[in-house]
Amino acid sequence: MTESRASIRVPDLVRLRPIGEPDLPALFEFHADAESVAMAVVNPRSREAFDAHWQGVLKDPTIIARAITLDATLVGNISRVHRDGRDYVGYWIARSHWGQGIATRALTLLLREVTTRPLHAKAASSNLASIRVLQRCGFVITGQHFAPATDRFPACEETVFVLA
Ligand SMILES: CC(C)(COP(=O)(O)OP(=O)(O)OC[C@H]1O[C@@H](n2cnc3c(N)ncnc32)[C@H](O)[C@@H]1OP(=O)(O)O)[C@@H](O)C(=O)NCCC(=O)NCCS
Repeated sequence: MTESRASIRVPDLVRLRPIGEPDLPALFEFHADAESVAMAVVNPRSREAFDAHWQGVLKDPTIIARAITLDATLVGNISRVHRDGRDYVGYWIARSHWGQGIATRALTLLLREVTTRPLHAKAASSNLASIRVLQRCGFVITGQHFAPATDRFPACEETVFVLA
């Protein structure tokens, strides 16, 4: 018997696929959203800086960058990057799609694809939704500290995580 469409949960429709240049305009809009920027506690990039950053990401073989799709529609991105000798995960969901379990599902899918451990993550301590996503996926808090401002991030209290 075919499962009725109405009984399919949103997280079941989430998939990951490689990111391509055609995704960049939509991703820029997601990342430029003021509420999202405030939640993540980042300094937004200009369109030119965003494109330059992502063109570098797409060419970097050490980065695993995935588009998050919901029923084939692009709704965010998730990555594993190698930085300062550690592997970090990070993600971003379009604000119109928050609160439906998409980040939790996307991180679950990435953790199936990326099997190396440990994996690390950082979130502003005010970003309770991201902290919840990480904890639901098994990451544990290893510390909290004041992170001074950088070009990319305003100063903030930061929580650090590891998945061993
Ligand atoms: C953080 C973010 C990725 C969450 O995405 P999402 O798809 O809405 O997340 P999910 O729906 O999978 O899960 C969110 C969880 O946080 C919880 N949550 C949401 N807002 C919360 C709040 N203010 N306080 C506590 N928990 C909160 C939800 O209840 C949910 O937990 P539950 O499933 O146990 O109920 C998304 O809001 C986002 O992209 N924000 C901007 C960019 C960003 O912050 N990226 C992460 C940088 S570290």
